[in-house]
Amino acid sequence: TNRLRIPPVLDPVPGPDGVKRFPLHLRAGRAELLPGKTASTWGVNGDHLGPTLRARRGDRVAMGVVNQLTEATTLHWHGVRLPAVMDGGPHQMIEPGATWNPEWTVDQPAATCWYHPHPHGMTSRHVYRGLAGMFILDDDRAPDLPGTYGVDDVPLIVQDKEFTADGELDEAFGGTFGLLGDDVLVNGTYDPYFEVTTTKVRFRVLNGSNAHVYSIGFADNRTFHVVGSDAGLLAAPAPVQRFRISPGERFEVVVDFTPGEQVVLRGFAGDSDVEEGEYDLLKLIAAANLEPSPDLPATLADLPPIVPGAKVRRFTLGGSDINGKDMDMTRVDEVVPAGAREVWEVDNITFSHNFHIHEVAFTVLDVDGEAPPEHLRGRKDTVFVEGRTKVRLAVEFGTHTDPKTPYMYHCHILKHEDKGMMGQFLIV
Ligand code: C2O
Ligand code: CU
Ligand code: CU
Repeated sequence: TNRLRIPPVLDPVPGPDGVKRFPLHLRAGRAELLPGKTASTWGVNGDHLGPTLRARRGDRVAMGVVNQLTEATTLHWHGVRLPAVMDGGPHQMIEPGATWNPEWTVDQPAATCWYHPHPHGMTSRHVYRGLAGMFILDDDRAPDLPGTYGVDDVPLIVQDKEFTADGELDEAFGGTFGLLGDDVLVNGTYDPYFEVTTTKVRFRVLNGSNAHVYSIGFADNRTFHVVGSDAGLLAAPAPVQRFRISPGERFEVVVDFTPGEQVVLRGFAGDSDVEEGEYDLLKLIAAANLEPSPDLPATLADLPPIVPGAKVRRFTLGGSDINGKDMDMTRVDEVVPAGAREVWEVDNITFSHNFHIHEVAFTVLDVDGEAPPEHLRGRKDTVFVEGRTKVRLAVEFGTHTDPKTPYMYHCHILKHEDKGMMGQFLIV
């Protein structure tokens, strides 16, 4: 087993204007993914994956994204609410050698977001090679939760890989869902362990896989608490034994440990067509003496329900299309008034998909007419839509208007996204 790699936090360079500047270099390299072997990879400021970015509500942040690759790509801030031109979707391509400088003010509750490329038709390859990282947003209004990065506040980027015999990444993107690899790495670490030193640990779990869905829990089936989902903290901790996470989703969980114990965090097989197989994700080894953590707060966030107006938009998910249409960069599919609250009804008539909307926060109203479990009642931006199910979302749109530059909504199974299972909307 190998010690879990913890992505370093990138300290921003303070500008004279109080702006926090984050220099990000997209580059090719070689990384040891399988022990004793190296693979050709891509990374941000390193060989594989990227640093954790961290900003606080109210901060003005400026990214300097330098593309040192030989291919054009983009960098999208998944979960971050910002103007469409700063979003890093397929319309904000960064040519090789070029630098992209988006800048915005963070104005949203504490959340675990992430960044990854989003070039039209190429996203699966670029993410798979290693362009991804966490983007943690803090908020003074958030309650006290375990928060010492890398100690009791631990990012877990879960990604499956398929390796060739010599340890290179196999870009096996065939099949209905594209890549479903046999090895699951966490933060790029093969067969990882983590030493627990406190009685509670918060894990920020990101499914950064191309297609795989995991039902995550512990080998001993212990109960733990979900405290946050994609777009921020839940109203109150929700006890679970498992949570299901599809590509692009994040859950924050808090887990109790007793001194000296060992337990395995596991991805269990589920009943959908994209969560076959069981994977040990992370071995947790508790020290003989654990530092006591404060109790979990009974309430975490004030989450008034999103009350939608009369407008309902319907999206039918086909095999690789939405409403019978493939993505067209020149077509605007939906025009939404700034600040709107709408119902988006997502009806999946085929095999499993998921649904991500840029810029927004939503709540899941119901899944096939039934209220979602407690841990799915927080704010989200991505939702699993199992084959032949219908999900209704109450969506809160932001107020950054732009009559020309669209945001995206799409299936986050990257092969489907690349095949065109994506649409564009304007906020005006
Ligand atoms: Cu995580 Cu449109 O993406
Ligand atoms: Cu996104
Ligand atoms: Cu899909």
